[in-house]
Amino acid sequence: GTASARTDVLVVGSGPAGASAALFLATYGVDVTVVTKYGRLSDTPRAHITNQRTMETMRDVGLEQTLMDLATPWELMSNTTFCTSLAGEELGRVESWGTSLARKGDYEAQSPCHMLDAPQTITEPVLMKAAQERGAKVRFDTEYLSHSQDDEGVTTRLRDRLTGAEYSVRSRYLVGADGARSRVAADLDLPFEGPGAVGGALGIIFEADLSRFVAHRPSVLYWMLQPGAEKEGVGLGVLRMIKPWHEWMLMWGYAVADGPPDLTDEYIRELAVMLVGTDDFEMRVTARSPWTVNHHYATSLARGRVFCVGDAVHRHPPTNGLGSNTSVQDSYNLAWKLAHVLRGTASPSLLESYDAERAPIARQIVERANQSIADTGRIMQALGLDDTSDPARLEEALAARKAPGPEGDAVRAALRDAIAYKSYEFNAHGVEHNQRYVSTAVVPDGTPMPEFRRDEQLYAQPTTWPGAKLPHTWVTRDGHRVSTLDLVGRGEWSVVTGIGGASWLAAAAALGAARGLQLRPVSIGPGEAVEDPYGTWAQLRETDDGGVLLVRPDGYVAARSIAAPDSPEEAHAWLAGVLDAVLGPV
Ligand code: FDA
Repeated sequence: GTASARTDVLVVGSGPAGASAALFLATYGVDVTVVTKYGRLSDTPRAHITNQRTMETMRDVGLEQTLMDLATPWELMSNTTFCTSLAGEELGRVESWGTSLARKGDYEAQSPCHMLDAPQTITEPVLMKAAQERGAKVRFDTEYLSHSQDDEGVTTRLRDRLTGAEYSVRSRYLVGADGARSRVAADLDLPFEGPGAVGGALGIIFEADLSRFVAHRPSVLYWMLQPGAEKEGVGLGVLRMIKPWHEWMLMWGYAVADGPPDLTDEYIRELAVMLVGTDDFEMRVTARSPWTVNHHYATSLARGRVFCVGDAVHRHPPTNGLGSNTSVQDSYNLAWKLAHVLRGTASPSLLESYDAERAPIARQIVERANQSIADTGRIMQALGLDDTSDPARLEEALAARKAPGPEGDAVRAALRDAIAYKSYEFNAHGVEHNQRYVSTAVVPDGTPMPEFRRDEQLYAQPTTWPGAKLPHTWVTRDGHRVSTLDLVGRGEWSVVTGIGGASWLAAAAALGAARGLQLRPVSIGPGEAVEDPYGTWAQLRETDDGGVLLVRPDGYVAARSIAAPDSPEEAHAWLAGVLDAVLGPV
């Protein structure tokens, strides 16, 4: 067929990246169409760890509570347990995802949102339903085949998988959210780095009531030290909670070179019995598939009018739970920029900042996730098992761990250290929060990026340095507590100042009107619309009372003036200058 359709933005894929791109774009009023290959959303739970930065995007578009109602709450994510099997010997635990007494305050101080555990089977329908309600069009059973772009737009060739009919869609922009085997990224010939496929893992989903082994030590992940498990895969055998404590995913490594084993019922039962540590349980397998441990990231995420988001441009194992989080945050970065350019309130050059800002993140998270697999090797090393999969050696090591004397002391200490080191996977708050953007959509203020005072992977460090996300703290409006993040966002720019900064707000009103742009005025201080009764905003803002932050629709600081302006003219000239720099001249 030759029928042709039109949309402003065509999104390929309905995973976390595509569904959230559609949601954000539709929320901003953009005409968006999603096409997706299969006749359904994800039927496997895959990504589940949902971090605070992702939840902040959901809060911004009004879906935070919806997800919290459906997800496993933060409290039940509290341990990561290392053992020989669920029924077997426990080797140690890591209090995880910020739930320990020592870390909980760090997490709560950084965000109005909590972490939660929401598998893709929960998130995708929530995102897609909201996207549809806000105007996104969705076509299932529709496969992306190819595209070509010109000065005005993109022509994408699609195939209706029910009828086999091929047709074209014409759009202003194309978003490739088509996952780890992205055709869009391949067609763009995006440059990739990293070794590629580094291991194989089996994913088996089953229902079984395992409460008696786990309910007293709630974990998202139970890691099993079993001979052979460490060969490839994610380092050890894993049982992952999908629904407490009845639905599970089993992970087990295999050598990619050999190819995956035959996933027969018998083989799966054998694995499950081994990891649970007894055959005294019933199970029902609902899905089975091998997947690849990848180490691959694109160093450029876009060309012209075509942008890739999500696993299309970063491919890595589930360690650290960064996959869908990064995918959603990619789309959050891109969506407001597309909305502005389509609305005519920004020059197309703004779109170049997507690549500049997100490509370094792609690399960072792929490296981090793979490093976490290597770090699990420390546990094997601690027990002297890194060069063997001999079950007898495991028995010896376990005995040594319980033996008195210096040898036992050394094994115990080494194992404690190796397990504690896994905080780089399970409490890597800094990895999640410390993203700093350097691009044309950020105007430096001449100050160097503040140095990290603590380990930058473990600890979040808020700053208003241009390119960082606006720090969260609780302030009040009419006496009611709101987050500073609630003062910004919703697709619009904000100008955040305090007493002595009235000229910034006057300039914002004038320039906003001239540019057809919403520049939301925010003034924080005694007697202002927003007050800082705890005094924490004054501690975090890194500006004088009358200084200013220009905050982008995604909550990142685009520009900052530490001092109050000397005159209304100066305020106007500064704001005009930074808006010109970021959005292009009007
Ligand atoms: P995703 O693969 O989800 O979606 C791709 C979409 O594109 C699908 O809708 C597909 O149908 C569509 N598509 C593909 N080709 C197409 C074509 N030619 N035409 C049309 N449509 C096409 N991440 C995380 O953050 N936390 C976690 O805890 C975990 N855990 C985890 C466990 C396991 C076992 C795995 C395998 C993975 C994880 N991940 C994870 C990673 C996570 O699953 C992954 O990062 C996200 O699903 C990526 O989302 P995307 O939307 O980019 O791709």
